[in-house]
Amino acid sequence: MFKKLISWSHSEFNYLPWRKTRSLYTTLVSEIMLQQTTVSTVINHFDRFLIEYPKPFDLANASEEEILISWKGLGYYRRARNLKKACEYICEVHDGDIPLHYETLIKIPGIGDYTANALLAIGADQSALALDANLERVISRLFGFKEIKGPKLQAKIQLRKPLDLELEEFGGRAINEALMDLGRNYCQARKTNCDLCPLKGRCFALKNNMVEDLPNVKKMIKEKHTLTLLRVLIQKDDNFLVYKKNEKQWLSGQYEVPTFILETSDNSLKQYPHLSGDFSLLPEFKTAITKYTITNKVLWVNEKDLKSLKINLNGFIWGHTNLSTASMKAIKL
Ligand code: ADE
Repeated sequence: MFKKLISWSHSEFNYLPWRKTRSLYTTLVSEIMLQQTTVSTVINHFDRFLIEYPKPFDLANASEEEILISWKGLGYYRRARNLKKACEYICEVHDGDIPLHYETLIKIPGIGDYTANALLAIGADQSALALDANLERVISRLFGFKEIKGPKLQAKIQLRKPLDLELEEFGGRAINEALMDLGRNYCQARKTNCDLCPLKGRCFALKNNMVEDLPNVKKMIKEKHTLTLLRVLIQKDDNFLVYKKNEKQWLSGQYEVPTFILETSDNSLKQYPHLSGDFSLLPEFKTAITKYTITNKVLWVNEKDLKSLKINLNGFIWGHTNLSTASMKAIKL
């Protein structure tokens, strides 16, 4: 089955420029370029970049400005700066030769767990797994790993039990690249083409109808809250008593009629002052903002009765423009 996968990968994707001639340095360059950038974009830049900077010394000695110009079109320029720093370190500490031990590799600035494993597996054909999102997804589906996507799933995969034999038989390079090809083509996060997949006869997720459930993505359970507000309408001619909302408040910059919290399931809410009293018989309308479902009670007060409500009127003005939607709804109710 893996034989079928590897021959599919070779026949379809051996043309990729970074798969033509290999060295640890060319793998370092391609892997940094391929992080956060599509294969089709990297295809257009990889060969030219290597002609300009054929060895780690060339990147170490070039100015940052020159390198950033050469990096144009690839985006995420921090990667270019990191690549230069990595090459400076490789030249200073390792005399220009990229070392081949995981622990030594991750000491190099700009080289983390993924790149270190990619250098071992793809650059040196060793038994390692460069776990990017593609590999995590493909492997969790293939073997039915239900750990939550992220460190737990990665730790499980890095035990490598189910892939050890294949890594031995076919080598780290072929296995990693073929699984990457699968993840990019037939086994995407939200789009799969299992009919064409060379591993379809071995896939746990396909057999168990779990393709959409794996990898196990922990869904953020959104906290929901209820909120009852009192909207107080005090009118003079065409205007209402309103205040301008500051940058810490919802709808900052808009104007709102005096508003009070009557009840809420969220004790930490500080958007409005609290007010107690029985306002249950007042007319109401519903709105929603972020995690709050809001019942708005509307109270009309004439200027004379205002004092009995003991509202602090500092900062209030008479106005009728740029009102929040809820204030408008209250007025129109
Ligand atoms: N071939 C080698 N490394 C790769 C990567 N990171 N993405 C896609 N194809 C690759």
